[in-house]
Amino acid sequence: MSCEGPILAIETSCDDTCAALVGEDGTIRSSVVSSQGVHDRFGGVVPEIAARHHVELVNLVVDDALARAGASLDDVGRIAVTQGPGLVGALLVGLATAKSLAAARGLGLVAVDHLHGHLAATSAAPDPFEPPFLALVASGGHTFLAHVVEHARYEVLGQTLDDAAGEAFDKGARMLGLGYPGGPLLQHAALGGDGAAFAFPRAERMRGLDFSFAGLKTALLYTVRDLGEQESARRRADLAASFQRAIVEALLLRVERALEATGLDRLTLGGGVAANAELRERVGSLGVSVRVPPVELCTDNAAMIGLAARHLPVLAAADALALEAYATGEHLL
Ligand code: KG4
Ligand code: ZN
Repeated sequence: MSCEGPILAIETSCDDTCAALVGEDGTIRSSVVSSQGVHDRFGGVVPEIAARHHVELVNLVVDDALARAGASLDDVGRIAVTQGPGLVGALLVGLATAKSLAAARGLGLVAVDHLHGHLAATSAAPDPFEPPFLALVASGGHTFLAHVVEHARYEVLGQTLDDAAGEAFDKGARMLGLGYPGGPLLQHAALGGDGAAFAFPRAERMRGLDFSFAGLKTALLYTVRDLGEQESARRRADLAASFQRAIVEALLLRVERALEATGLDRLTLGGGVAANAELRERVGSLGVSVRVPPVELCTDNAAMIGLAARHLPVLAAADALALEAYATGEHLL
């Protein structure tokens, strides 16, 4: 079993079919993300449709990632794939593809946790941090703070008790009559709005490092209902800006607490919500060194899976074939 050569990474945990070629030194030689788009009209991802589209797209996306890097399968040193958490049907497509490639080519396989991928995305930034550092991962499915002790080892300090931050963006956007996915649309709708117009809660009385966005969601629901349809539409920018600010400040409040509690003075961000412009700007004033991946590495991609794989064990063919997808991150958190 050979390991030399770049890592071919595959990620199919949700609705993006992704492949990337990542060098052993962390250089991203290519990263292809095929967003399925077909889910927008349903207001969310339909698991079965996602899985079927992955089947259609995955080989094309892998070929494209190799071609863009000017490489072929002969150059690949090992395969990396997202094992979970995510939609099981979607994950299985990536896993089956990765297993077949590894078996056919006699290559080792690295199973990567999706959240570990979001954490590792930051190692692509110029001048990446060496652990230890604090990391905030905020995506559509998860939101947590981690003390990254070593590249492949981290301790979760706090996590959301209900919705993930991205989910809150998506639900808020829906209440404001915006489309899906809500994060980027709400950010756009907030442009020119007054972030202080509505006093939405940040769950500030909740102690500790856990997050909760349920109260915020309810507050927006009641505000929109009380304003009425016409007035809500007229004040959409203010509502969006205030809602966005509440999420960002709820995240920052826990980040500040965690920095204080741990004494860490370096922070990284990851996950789709780390693409948010207000969050990216505000972390700059925390008084600590910060690394935030470029936007395309915050949202789902395979390059982050390849980056994480650099520090994880390589499975030989027999063990690789036995790998099963997992839907939730509970075993990890
Ligand atoms: O990490 P990701 O691509 O997928 C998951 O692992 O969930 O995160 C997707 C989430 C969605 O909820 C989306 O609305 C949110 O990230 N998101 C944003 C922005 N871009 C994506 N939220 C706020 N502002 C953005 N610019
Ligand atoms: Zn993700």
